[in-house]
Amino acid sequence: MSTVLVLNGPNLGRLGSREPEVYGDGSLADLEVLLRASAPEGVEIDLRQTDDEAELVHWLHEAVDTGRPVILNPAAFTHYSYALRDAAALVTKAGLLLIEVHISNPHSREEFRHTSVISGVATGVVAGFGFDSYGLALDYVTRAD
Ligand code: DQA
Repeated sequence: MSTVLVLNGPNLGRLGSREPEVYGDGSLADLEVLLRASAPEGVEIDLRQTDDEAELVHWLHEAVDTGRPVILNPAAFTHYSYALRDAAALVTKAGLLLIEVHISNPHSREEFRHTSVISGVATGVVAGFGFDSYGLALDYVTRAD
């Protein structure tokens, strides 16, 4: 593995100013810097964000076609996007790692956030540790892949 895709769903482009009491005050650019600094030598971080469900689905298809592991924060799509679930299943059924991550702990929040339609097809889930959720997922991916 030389590149890890770090894919982020809707509204995560607003990190830094979006509900800092929930998501902290770091931006997505800050997250990218942190992950690049913690990635082992030779491992590239390809971090992307979109508000568009179709684009996220296409990026998961790309992961399958290029054989890349995925760290995915599906954001609100977590809770209802069967299209994203089916695309995530393509990744793990191809034998690739797909780690679902959340900055907050959705289980300690509103009831609609307690359901993830993604978790059932993910390799694993890390939630509730702020940006460290991504770092923990990256650590696993780089050791296991
Ligand atoms: C989130 C949790 C989701 O419920 C929410 O819709 C998000 C962010 C998180 O990282 O904590 O946008 O995925």
